[in-house]
Amino acid sequence: MLIFAGIDTTSNLFGACCYALSIHPEWQIKLREEVQKQYSTYEQLNSDNINVSNQITNFINECMRMYTPVPYFIEREVKQDHKVGDYFLKKNSEVSLCLFPNNYDSKNYKDPFTFNPDRWNQQGIDPFVFLPFSIGKRNCIGQHMALMELKCLLVYLLMNFEVNSVGEKQVWTFKFVYTIQNEKFIKLKRIGK
Ligand code: HEM
Repeated sequence: MLIFAGIDTTSNLFGACCYALSIHPEWQIKLREEVQKQYSTYEQLNSDNINVSNQITNFINECMRMYTPVPYFIEREVKQDHKVGDYFLKKNSEVSLCLFPNNYDSKNYKDPFTFNPDRWNQQGIDPFVFLPFSIGKRNCIGQHMALMELKCLLVYLLMNFEVNSVGEKQVWTFKFVYTIQNEKFIKLKRIGK
């Protein structure tokens, strides 16, 4: 369970981050400058300074909002008859949450289809709206580890590689697993060596 829950999710999100870097070069430049400002070598990155950059955290949050790695399969059994808004939930039935509607609702996010990591600087994003790791007793036990892994990977990537799109227009899409639609993926170019 730990391996299944921990590997595919994190690698999927890292793929989404690479995709976002490739189609938003302005963010790639901004984050690389940030990384160079915070850490002069990869070895300097440690548990004390891994969270210093709001920009990296904001970038990961925005990737999790737009390309959320676990969009379905957050399931719960209804313990008693219940009414939620206009919906009647019958005892013993199963409810499955889908995160996309929340993440792309303009009631929750201004211009939800625009990739804008800076939106995470603002206060007031309801924690019950942004649920990439679910919420409650059975939420993700690996969320802090996942974010640390992601930050290490991004710092290493940005220090050592340029991330570019292959071909004209790549589209991130959902087909049970996410892939870039025409499957040409992205290419990396080593920098500074
Ligand atoms: C970006 C990475 C990750 C995402 C988006 C993610 C997301 C989730 C979600 C949505 C759930 C469902 C919780 C629910 O049903 O309410 C979950 C459960 C779980 N996750 Fe993660 N996860 C990630 C990384 C990890 C990692 C790195 C580990 C372990 C090293 C991990 C271990 C688990 C386990 C064991 C559960 C089941 C918890 C339970 O049923 O009590 N996850 N995760």
